Amino acid sequence: MADAPAPPQQPTAEDLQRDLEGMDVDDDLLRDDDGEAMEEVEDDASIAESDDEDLVKEDSDALLTFDKHEGAVYCVSVSKNGDILSGGGDDRAWLQPGPLGEDQARRAMCLEGHGDSVTACGFSHDDAMAATGAYDGSVKLWDASTGSLLRTLEGPGDVEWLSWHPKGDVVFAAPAVQGRLATCWTAPDAFDPDRYAPGREEHAMPFAHIGFGGGIHQCMGQQFGYCQVKTILSWLNRNYDMEIVSEFPEPDYTAMVVGPKGKPMVRYVRKA
Ligand code: HEM
Repeated sequence: MADAPAPPQQPTAEDLQRDLEGMDVDDDLLRDDDGEAMEEVEDDASIAESDDEDLVKEDSDALLTFDKHEGAVYCVSVSKNGDILSGGGDDRAWLQPGPLGEDQARRAMCLEGHGDSVTACGFSHDDAMAATGAYDGSVKLWDASTGSLLRTLEGPGDVEWLSWHPKGDVVFAAPAVQGRLATCWTAPDAFDPDRYAPGREEHAMPFAHIGFGGGIHQCMGQQFGYCQVKTILSWLNRNYDMEIVSEFPEPDYTAMVVGPKGKPMVRYVRKA
């Protein structure tokens, strides 16, 4: 019986070194699939040194050439209605009607306010808002029809990408955090039920009080919930004096509905 062929040997580091030394690589030439030499390519440094205007080919077949950025363009996004959003090294973003857009008469809008290169941009699912992210660490939301700034979101570091939810405006909000926002409540960290009392009514600010959620999916049992809680508290308060006898408990944020941690003990003394 013939001997089985020897298994292929893994190349050693010395083999690779020898192969590389034997190669004749011309850095300035690229070859296409047929092995034909392609035109010489300038290295990055020489492109960076050249005047930006030289890079815009006047006889280009492009439908649109937009040259308002005073520096490198780092990001471009096209909305469903054809508007074009771009950001660049001049710390600016531009929002303009695209060549195939619906409203050609609109003027290009310069979105200013970032303190560093604008590196990421995109439109919301309904094209109503535009977002720009920058190396200044912030994301800015703009009204896409007027160009006015809606909100600035401060992040921890350089923004290199951003992405909108593809279908809708999804917001995750924690009622426990919302209940402690100094922008909504005068004493955000205090147990201060009077914040809801007539005259103060701090919960009246939209979305300040989100114990039952907010928006389209807010709790369907909200009124029943209020009724139930008021009934129980009213009956207890009219019939008992209550006193906590264990340590005041920490909130248990691991539960779906936040309750007290551990087993707090309350003494109920029937009112005379
Ligand atoms: C004090 C009592 C209650 C509290 C604190 C509470 C809280 C909540 C919260 C925070 C949500 C999520 C809202 C959102 O995603 O924006 C919710 C949703 C919901 N709750 Fe309640 N809830 C209570 C009682 C009830 C009761 C008694 C019922 C029914 C009888 C109920 C039915 C629902 C339903 C059906 C949803 C889902 C609504 C949707 O996704 O469209 N809840 N609740």
